[in-house]
Amino acid sequence: MTGDKKVDTQHQQLFDMVNEIHDSIMANHGREVLVPVLKRLAKYTVEHFATEEALMQRTNYPGYAAHKAQHDELTAKAVEIIQGYESGKITLPMTLSRFLTDWLRNHIKKSDLEMIKHVQKAGVSA
Ligand SMILES: [Fe+2]
Repeated sequence: MTGDKKVDTQHQQLFDMVNEIHDSIMANHGREVLVPVLKRLAKYTVEHFATEEALMQRTNYPGYAAHKAQHDELTAKAVEIIQGYESGKITLPMTLSRFLTDWLRNHIKKSDLEMIKHVQKAGVSA
């Protein structure tokens, strides 16, 4: 929990979607099921990152560039995985949900927490 209500709600939503993907992979669902779910997660992630990036910009956060670089890196990786999977070039790794969960937890624990501290000091919320 970062302490910002909107950001925390979005994070919860992201974890729920990652869990849905986990269950879907475990249930051996095919591309026709998984691709739309993956695209929904990617779209929501981009919206969520935009919320955080707007907060950083509004409060002149000094760590903006480094934080945004982490967002961009994950976004690029997501696009690569979805395109590869959709075109049949790759199968979805069973470890995908684990990777996403770990990424989220680590990113929230360090980068988001630090950023929200700054944002709250500035008296701003999402
Ligand atoms: Fe973030």
